[in-house]
Amino acid sequence: MAYLQYIDQRLCFGPSPTPLQKFTASYQGPVYIYDLASIRHRYGQMARALPGVDIYYAMKANSHPEVLRALAQAGAGVDVVSGGEIKRALENGFSPDKIVYSGVGKTRQEIQAALDLRIAQLNVESLPELQRISEIAREMACKAPVALRLNPDVDIQTHPYIATGLKDNKFGMELALLPELVELLQKNQNFLELKGLSLHLGSQMMEFAGFAEALKKLVPVFQDLQKTFPGLDVFDIGGGLGVFYETQDLKKEEELLQAYAAQALEILKPLQARLQTEPGRWLVAHSGVLLSQVQYIKTTTHKTFVIIDSGMNHLLRPSLYGAFHSVWALKENAEKMKVDVVGPICESGDFFAKEREISRVHADDFIVIADVGAYGYSMANRYNLQDLPQEIVI
Ligand SMILES: Cc1ncc(COP(=O)(O)O)c(C=O)c1O
Repeated sequence: MAYLQYIDQRLCFGPSPTPLQKFTASYQGPVYIYDLASIRHRYGQMARALPGVDIYYAMKANSHPEVLRALAQAGAGVDVVSGGEIKRALENGFSPDKIVYSGVGKTRQEIQAALDLRIAQLNVESLPELQRISEIAREMACKAPVALRLNPDVDIQTHPYIATGLKDNKFGMELALLPELVELLQKNQNFLELKGLSLHLGSQMMEFAGFAEALKKLVPVFQDLQKTFPGLDVFDIGGGLGVFYETQDLKKEEELLQAYAAQALEILKPLQARLQTEPGRWLVAHSGVLLSQVQYIKTTTHKTFVIIDSGMNHLLRPSLYGAFHSVWALKENAEKMKVDVVGPICESGDFFAKEREISRVHADDFIVIADVGAYGYSMANRYNLQDLPQEIVI
């Protein structure tokens, strides 16, 4: 199955190929187009590869209501990182017992609301956060279900901005903190219920040596803690499975998924635990494209710029991480041009592609940026007071 392909020179999207030309008639500015069938397909693939593992979709990747509803209907839970995401999840098919709450900066109000709703689990990222949760639970006369997010200090060979499991990162808690965490949990056993351990090492993970190392570090920790806390029965392996943005090789991605699942299931086999995962990108990245219109072709003595009406304000990943997204002309053209594809924003970092060969386009033609279903619209902003992009669901 290909997500993007030319059929009779017309660019088509999704498993039952939709010609993207059809969205140009009503075009009112850059638009994200999502294909729900491909999201359901990916969810099915992951659920089959990880039998018995509960999937909590990391909604920061794409929080469009229909994407959330499709995943809730498919059986997913949801991993959230703010009160806003909790609200959006509840509005779109997730019950509180399907919500896991991560994030290093939970405010008092957010914790209170989460406890009030009785969400499944708060993934705790620091000692003061655990302290704060216990104080709030005491005030509310309830018991907070918590998981300790541990930082095993391993390298998963990804971009430094999306690595989260190294000692330099703000995420999770170092293993040396465990005695203090245990003490706090025991002292406040009427208000804190240790339900799980969690980790999330980062995003766009393409090989699993670091992942395996981290799991192996945490297996004895889990078993040890279980002796003190018999209610401890969740092991959350985080998200982070990567996709091939450059080759869009879906077969290789399935192999990657199988290798990931095999590692996790094998290493965690000795545990008496319910396993959980928090994928974002792998489920939704390929399911979105960004349709944009060419404004100008600007040629200098040095290079050619294709200036479009969308920029880093709509898709931050190239500017933020130097991330690769393929760029497609809506109409295939045998004639090619080597160009920088850039946006209207007043920053030199506002680009989608550099020195890239694409089908020849002219002013007013449309182009498509591929694989923007994850961390696309969810990171969009109104810098330069540009409008936010639109969103359409197929
Ligand atoms: C705690 C947590 N879980 C899961 C994810 C999802 O990661 P990915 O989209 O790479 O699967 C993230 C992403 O930042 C995260 O911070």
